[in-house]
Amino acid sequence: MEASTLQNPVTMDEITALAKRRGFIFQSSEIYGGLNGFWDYGPLGAVLKRNVKDAWWRENVLLRDDVVPFDSSIIMHPLVWKASGHVDAFHDKLVDCKVCKHRFRFDHLKDPHQCPDCGSKDSFTEPRNFNLMMQTQVGPMEDTAARAYLRPETAQGIFVNFKNVYQTARKRPPFGIAQIGKSFRNEITPGNFTYRVREFEQAELEYFVPDDGKDLEAFREWVDRRKAWYSQYGVKPERLRFYELTEQERPHYAKAGIDVEYLFPWGWGELESIAHRGTYDLDAHMALSGKDLQYYDEASKTKYTPILIESSAGMDRTTLTMLIDAYEREKSVDPNGKETERTVLRFHPFIAPVQVAVFSLARNKPELVERARAIEAALRPLHRTQYDEGNIGQLYRRQDEIGTPFCVTVDYDTLEDGTVTVRERDSMRQERIAADALERFFGVQLLGSAPH
Ligand code: GAP
Repeated sequence: MEASTLQNPVTMDEITALAKRRGFIFQSSEIYGGLNGFWDYGPLGAVLKRNVKDAWWRENVLLRDDVVPFDSSIIMHPLVWKASGHVDAFHDKLVDCKVCKHRFRFDHLKDPHQCPDCGSKDSFTEPRNFNLMMQTQVGPMEDTAARAYLRPETAQGIFVNFKNVYQTARKRPPFGIAQIGKSFRNEITPGNFTYRVREFEQAELEYFVPDDGKDLEAFREWVDRRKAWYSQYGVKPERLRFYELTEQERPHYAKAGIDVEYLFPWGWGELESIAHRGTYDLDAHMALSGKDLQYYDEASKTKYTPILIESSAGMDRTTLTMLIDAYEREKSVDPNGKETERTVLRFHPFIAPVQVAVFSLARNKPELVERARAIEAALRPLHRTQYDEGNIGQLYRRQDEIGTPFCVTVDYDTLEDGTVTVRERDSMRQERIAADALERFFGVQLLGSAPH
């Protein structure tokens, strides 16, 4: 489908308002006016993002016997970034408006002559390179020898440890090393909520394959796996595309590259890049460190540099995607026949921050409250649960807005016959179920709904 014929009907205003109202995402340091490019995840957002990371980890590490986990430090030897090319080439071009003094990323300007903020014409300085790496200092001396960088990607920690990992984990290519962790980029113009930020998390899988002519096949297999992952978690296929980079768009050493893009309310934006990187990264570290990072094959007594297939996904962007993609406003009819509108987040149950909410019909009836609390406590070790009480209509509305797949209501009949009302989020269908049967019911509905 053509991008021009598509649109995402949700607005960013609706998403940011909901994120704030329900405690998904807050501006960082809000009481001091915020800090551009930094965000905090509230109680629900923290769980949502953790679930997204768990979903990635489950698929790419837990369910594979050819991928091992890794966790490298954020600050590494500065020569790592020299070898990787980040010191010399990790630049964006920036310009300043000489009239209003605002700063812009040159390639983001719609009109390279006119300032989008103050409207002045030909007021820009010459474009100049701006290195995106964040700097810090290591130790008590403030000289250049102490300068270090916060990593702009997690991948380099994996490359420099390639030998340590394959030897200790006793792996031979094809095999992968995966890590999820924070990265930092001093973006010139952060924006679009949590889409372009200065501190973010990446989930990176570095898959090393032998040079046996099957490397492009391995690349395609990873593209297919990543496609299947987005689809398993319910991302709308018409809002997702896999853009194949042309030879001109790829780095000279890359044989193939694909950008995974989502149709955000402002247009298509990159979620992940999947790249065939040849032997570039290991070669670069061998050249500068003088250390051997080749794979030594005991069986054939030969040595070679494996080819790298990389899948690098942004977890903040994926979390934002899940939020936007799940968001719907729809008309519905309440139990009294009145037409109302509801906001609902149709999260996949694996991703939903709360999976089962248990309510007591009344606040001031100790028998109901006790019973509902006991049911919630029994389900808590098995699922992500929440207890609440009061006006059931309002409680449903709140749970719909945070994407809870099931609500359980304890009422007076519960005390008589031991049954509760279970209400399903998407269909809003309600059924009476014996409280004793809830564990089994949710075992099938929620655990059975995990993608594997
Ligand atoms: N190791 C390869 C690499 O880092 P990249 O395309 O620069 O590749 C991978 O980054 C992913 O990291 C992007 O697709 C995006 O999801 C995320 N990412 C990069 N810069 C980001 C930023 N400023 N804010 C949020 N996410 C970002």
